[in-house]
Amino acid sequence: MKGKRIVLGVTGGIAAYKSAELVRRLAERGAEVQVVMTAAAQHFVTPTTFQALSGRPVRSDLWDDGHAAGMGHIELARWAELVLVAPASADFLARLAHGLADDLLTTLCLASAAPIAAAPAMNQLMWRNAATQFNVDLLERRGVRMLGPGIGEQACGEHGPGRMLEPPELVACAAALLSPAGPLRGRRVMVTAGPTRECIDPVRFVSNRSSGKMGFALAQAMQEAGAEVVLVSGPVSLPSPRGVRRIDVESCDQMYAAVQRELPGTAIFVGTAAVADYRPVCCAEQKIKKSSETMSLELTRTTDILAHVSASPQRPFVVGFAAETHAVEQYARAKLLAKNLDLIAANEVGHRKAFDCDENALLVLWRGGRIELPSSSKLELARALTGLIVERYLEQPDPGERRSASAGEGADGADTARELAAPSGVRAS
Ligand code: CTP
Repeated sequence: MKGKRIVLGVTGGIAAYKSAELVRRLAERGAEVQVVMTAAAQHFVTPTTFQALSGRPVRSDLWDDGHAAGMGHIELARWAELVLVAPASADFLARLAHGLADDLLTTLCLASAAPIAAAPAMNQLMWRNAATQFNVDLLERRGVRMLGPGIGEQACGEHGPGRMLEPPELVACAAALLSPAGPLRGRRVMVTAGPTRECIDPVRFVSNRSSGKMGFALAQAMQEAGAEVVLVSGPVSLPSPRGVRRIDVESCDQMYAAVQRELPGTAIFVGTAAVADYRPVCCAEQKIKKSSETMSLELTRTTDILAHVSASPQRPFVVGFAAETHAVEQYARAKLLAKNLDLIAANEVGHRKAFDCDENALLVLWRGGRIELPSSSKLELARALTGLIVERYLEQPDPGERRSASAGEGADGADTARELAAPSGVRAS
């Protein structure tokens, strides 16, 4: 952690006193720590304590005259390599989830490209409250890492989840976030997501119900596993997962062009996009006016991006998706073979199933194997699927390149993959 720049946000909660020790331990590891306190935090601990331990004046005011033309939040947002908020109160999580920017800490969180981690600390009923859980879920889906909370005796005398993790645990989490050492470290993963739009005329298109949620969750899970992730997305209304490079496209042709451009150096390709199988033969230059009672639209096949990637000379490890309304396993296995995939994840789709839902279940198939991943949130599912992909990928009898992914990390890649595949009991463990 030597020389790593950490903004430590301290919000209002009894656990703020533990943050003093957290600063000391981060500083011992060589990190540069800039403490930012909310007004509420100052009711629990004085800035003087943090100033003495961090060796830097504590920042708390959005309107601090001493900083470049009132742009202190931007300067801090750029400076940070990690924003760690500990303790993170229910109020802070709510404000961050809703994009409020009414104090220095929330504003710099919005303005920073650095990873954000929050260590929640609050009464167990406040933690369990549906509003808090909703906010936490929203933040996690946007890539904010929740560190804890722990379960146990609380300052208020109650027992349950809501304790801030202890400083040594938080230091370990911060170290992991600052130098991700996941099994895919140094590997590039490309994920396609969302629907495509195939133009009929300037105002109309052919498309489908895909929301892109599964692809975005997978991009996030791959990034958490240490990969450099390129996400090629059709039109969706989802925020980009943190630390992921996103390329927006509309049509199958544009998606294919982006994939071809990014393919060199890609170790794993995951096609989650619901690419249109057909597009109108031509796109009218002007809006088509209604005339006859019926009209026909002539369609032609689009390029099968997944099949092309699989047949490319520098073929990466290729993962496909299959959305089926019936005979799921039979069709999925046929696609695995027809497109020469390394692995396929299949799900049942239909009215109110899979598309645009937050939960899903998957049947994962590869040559000689199958596993069912039961229904859970798309992010949990994506993490489990990433674990399976990593396991298969590292088993490939391929050229040193692939093998070296697990070398030197002190852990056998397959073990690491199993850890990833195991649904975590504790958030962001
Ligand atoms: N795919 C692709 N390019 C296309 C079509 C599909 O890359 N033009 C990818 C999807 O991202 C997904 C997989 O192929 O990973 C789905 O296979 P596909 O055979 O297209 O599935 P369906 O469209 O469901 O096929 P069918 O209608 O024959 O069931």
